[in-house]
Amino acid sequence: MSSTRNRRGPGGGRPTWRRGMSGSLRWGEVSSSVAPYVPTPYSVVRRMMELAGAGADDVVYDLGCGDGRILFTAVEEFGVKKAVGYELKASMCESVRRNIRRKSLEGRIEVINENFFLADLSPASLVTLYLTTSGNSKLRPKFEEELRGGARIVSHDFPIQEWTTLKGGSPGHYALGSHRIYLYKVPDAYERERANLRNPKEEGRWRRIRRIFFSV
Ligand SMILES: C[S@@+](CC[C@H](N)C(=O)[O-])C[C@H]1O[C@@H](n2cnc3c(N)ncnc32)[C@H](O)[C@@H]1O
Repeated sequence: MSSTRNRRGPGGGRPTWRRGMSGSLRWGEVSSSVAPYVPTPYSVVRRMMELAGAGADDVVYDLGCGDGRILFTAVEEFGVKKAVGYELKASMCESVRRNIRRKSLEGRIEVINENFFLADLSPASLVTLYLTTSGNSKLRPKFEEELRGGARIVSHDFPIQEWTTLKGGSPGHYALGSHRIYLYKVPDAYERERANLRNPKEEGRWRRIRRIFFSV
């Protein structure tokens, strides 16, 4: 399913990410587990879906899908077109697959027993996260490179540092009891701030670098 898996990084082979100075990953290194298993309560899952406006046109990717509750809620209650989960724990993936078969949702829900840093995120219109702030930081460059314009990211409890939430203002998150929900849209979450930071000469240089590194 993944075009990224066939794409070549600058060193050849599968694309990998190396940790940069800011905790993000760059070519050459793949992070593995960035969070333990803790399920999001169903009330929070539903609020995440509502806030993100999940609906029939959406393809949802849950990065670290655990027992698959976000995938099932997205498809069964919000009618999204497709939901894809990545999960490192093989036993959890097996249990999600059993539930997919039991509910005859093959074709609507897919679970992949793989490190989500190796996923191709380009088909996603809505990404859901319940990881850690540092895990989100490692994913940030991948989001900026792979997600299409208009894609939303909704994160339970942990923000994506250096990005601006859709809500804006203070606080920038929504709350449900003690749970926090952070909602972002690509590229609005990072573009305006970056544009202010960069000068036009630097921007031209980065455009050239991106062309060289990411077109191989
Ligand atoms: C806090 S749980 C969230 C589960 C589910 N998304 C939810 O909200 O109920 C995080 C999950 O991410 C998985 N995980 C952590 N790092 C991962 C990685 N690099 N690739 C795939 N799964 C990962 C963990 O095994 C764990 O099940």
